[in-house]
Amino acid sequence: MSAQPILVAPSLLACDFGHLAEEIKQVEEAGADWLHVDVMDGHFVPNLTIGPVIVEAIRRASRIPLDVHLMLNHPEHYVKPFVDAGAHYLTVHVEAPGLRTEALVHKTLDDIRKAGARPGLSVRPRTTADALTPFLKAVDLMLVMTVEPGFGGQAFMPEVVPKVRQVRSSGFGGHLAVDGGINAQTGALCREAGANVLVAGTYVFRSTSYRDAIRSLRGS
Ligand code: DX5
Ligand code: ZN
Repeated sequence: MSAQPILVAPSLLACDFGHLAEEIKQVEEAGADWLHVDVMDGHFVPNLTIGPVIVEAIRRASRIPLDVHLMLNHPEHYVKPFVDAGAHYLTVHVEAPGLRTEALVHKTLDDIRKAGARPGLSVRPRTTADALTPFLKAVDLMLVMTVEPGFGGQAFMPEVVPKVRQVRSSGFGGHLAVDGGINAQTGALCREAGANVLVAGTYVFRSTSYRDAIRSLRGS
């Protein structure tokens, strides 16, 4: 378990983009803590999503923190545009080719903080917790992927749960997020392993009640 409060971050990737501002208003009213925004470049993952102009529109339509997840080969080139667009948390992948050395990861995390956002670091399902160890003190958020990044609506990978436990038991006191295939059941497994931020797209936006879905993720 985690000493941090349990936070629910609906992933806008699964929302109705034709009614983006209305969707944001509805999940906020339903109790969302953060809005999760998935940024994909068609290289790091085989999908393309949104850029800083849409993040800026999301910022204007929202009142809660934006948790921006960069699935980019070169996140180091996009720190300022996304922070200026309104990212509150800005997360990069430790596997990004542009961050091929420990020093480059540290520099990018520092750049995020200097630009005025809180840095996060993410790992793909097959990357071990050891890859995060050098950065435990440098980040406010660790994001453990529980599906292969790239698409919403995939099945949760239960084999990742021990990694969540490992990161939390390493003494990491910041936000520990899980992302991919999160619903009431898989969310409970992750909370029990020490995750305190549950990112959920399909489960929230395909539910009949955003409020009930968010409450069930929180475990209350
Ligand atoms: C996947 C994204 C996720 C995705 C989760 O690459 O990082 O945030 O939106 O979607 P669900 O909850 O549908 O698995
Ligand atoms: Zn994500």
